[in-house]
Amino acid sequence: MKRRLIAAGVFGSAALTLGLIGVVEVRGDSRSPSAPIYGVQLPEGYRDWPLVAPAQEAAPLDELRVIVGNPIAMRAYRDNIHPFPDGSVLVKRAWKHEQSPDFEPASIPGAATTVQVMVKDSKRYASTGGWGYGRFIDGRPVDEAQHRTCHACHAARVSDRDYVFTRYAP
Ligand code: HEC
Repeated sequence: MKRRLIAAGVFGSAALTLGLIGVVEVRGDSRSPSAPIYGVQLPEGYRDWPLVAPAQEAAPLDELRVIVGNPIAMRAYRDNIHPFPDGSVLVKRAWKHEQSPDFEPASIPGAATTVQVMVKDSKRYASTGGWGYGRFIDGRPVDEAQHRTCHACHAARVSDRDYVFTRYAP
């Protein structure tokens, strides 16, 4: 009887340990590595988020871009809520600008270049206007030096719009 209880105990804690390892592994698989300074990660499911607006940058980068937002950010855009509430996330996706092979005047996205992220957390990121920044290439964050440039540019030009350039496309 006693032996059976001990066996159950050992089995139980082994199962618990395996369970915990399982949880950690699932998290590790589904979350991207975090960006330096801010600890921002690529948000899950951003490919399915609604459009805020398209954008384009001329040569030398020559990129097509779209800015998308999570539900909290989209509600802020729609209802004119300023500043963006905590939990707002904006993602800028970018591709090389290519000419369509099917119709000359049209453009298509070429290779994906970068994915950039802004996360609003007014306490955690108090020193950068409440925004944390992350820049990723092929799912991996770029170096710290590049992350040091993010807020400076946003703050220099659009501090009056909560450091966000993109307006909701009409
Ligand atoms: C030299 C200026 C500049 C720097 C540096 C910069 N950005 Fe931006 N960012 C822009 C502009 C301009 C836009 C508007 C969209 C566009 O034209 O691509 C933008 C848009 C964004 C957006 C969409 C929300 C918005 O504000 O419109 C995100 C997210 C973003 N940037 C993240 C970053 C991150 C992360 C970094 C640092 C790795 C960074 N940015 C560095 C100029 C800059």
